Amino acid sequence: MSEVAISEGLSEREVAAPKKERTFVMIKPGSIERGLVGTVIERFERKGLTIAALKLVQLTKQVAETQYAEHKGEEYFDALVAYMTSGPTIALMLEGLNAINVARETAGKTDPREAQPGTIRADFGIDTRHNVVHASDSEAAANREIGIHFPELS
Ligand code: CDP
Ligand code: MG
Repeated sequence: MSEVAISEGLSEREVAAPKKERTFVMIKPGSIERGLVGTVIERFERKGLTIAALKLVQLTKQVAETQYAEHKGEEYFDALVAYMTSGPTIALMLEGLNAINVARETAGKTDPREAQPGTIRADFGIDTRHNVVHASDSEAAANREIGIHFPELS
C-alpha cells in the first residue's frame, strides 16, 4: 500500500478495488460485413461492460490515420488504413469496472491464431489485420480514442 493511500486514510480494500472506467472499442468493417456485430457486442456485455455510446461510422482516411498514428511508418500501416476505411465500422464507448483491461482480454491477442479460445479474436478473427475488433490498450489511449470518435463526451 502506498504512503499516499495510507495518508489519505484509504483501506487496503479501497486501494485494491477495481476502478470504474470508460474504454473505446471499434468493430472493424469485416465484422459488420459478416454479420458479427450482435455477437461481438454480446461478448463484451457478458463480461459486465455496458454501452455508454455507440454509432455506425465510415472512417475517413484522415481519421483512420489519426486513430492508428502510433503505427505510422510500419510496413502494414497503409493496408491497415485501407482496411479500416473499406466499409462502415461501429464505434463504441464501453463502461465498467476495469473496462480497459476487460475489453482487451475479451478481444484477445492481436493475431487470432495466437489468441486464447473464448476470446473474440480467437473465435472469429481471420488474421492479424482482420481481427474483428479494436480495443484501447491504456487509459491514455482510451481517452485519446474517445476524444477522436465521441468528442462531445470526452
Ligand atoms: O489491435 P492491437 O492493439 O491488439 O494490435 P496493434 O499491434 O496495436 O496493431 C493495431 C492493428 O494493426 C491490429 O489490430 C491489426 O489490425 C493491424 N496490424 C496489421 O494489420 N498487421 C500487422 N502486422 C500488425 C498489426
Ligand atoms: Mg494497439
